[in-house]
Amino acid sequence: MKILVINGPNLNMLGIREPDHYGKETYADLLAKIQNHCQAKGIEVEVYQSNHEGDLVDAIQKAYGTADGIVINPGAYTHTSIAILDAVKSVSIPTVEVHISKVEEREDFRQISYVRLACVKTITGHGTDGYLEAIDYLAEGMKK
Ligand code: DQA
Repeated sequence: MKILVINGPNLNMLGIREPDHYGKETYADLLAKIQNHCQAKGIEVEVYQSNHEGDLVDAIQKAYGTADGIVINPGAYTHTSIAILDAVKSVSIPTVEVHISKVEEREDFRQISYVRLACVKTITGHGTDGYLEAIDYLAEGMKK
């Protein structure tokens, strides 16, 4: 079972950017948290981050035939990118959308999520634990 975790723009700035919204854990902390969790559960995981929309599309396409599940936090591209939505639809890999902050309680422009239309589940406002919940959700689904 292999899961690909994809993070979009500015998520590499975790720990520095807007701690009131995103907490104090750094991106390196997030990587370690995901890797430790997956190791303990015997899940193969790859984590990818890019600030560039096309690179995120490439990463989703590359998952075709190699990953059993995708966890994606597209950052601000959540609210703008039809290309990322189409990429997730193209590969037909079960995908969970994660947001560290509670986007539904933030600005109006954050209320649209294109990628959500192709996702089996959305987790918001659980901090970085949301990534682990998403991984567990996909892993449970794969056992069935
Ligand atoms: C985010 C929420 C987005 O609105 C924002 O642009 C981000 C992070 C989150 O994890 O809460 O970059 O996806």
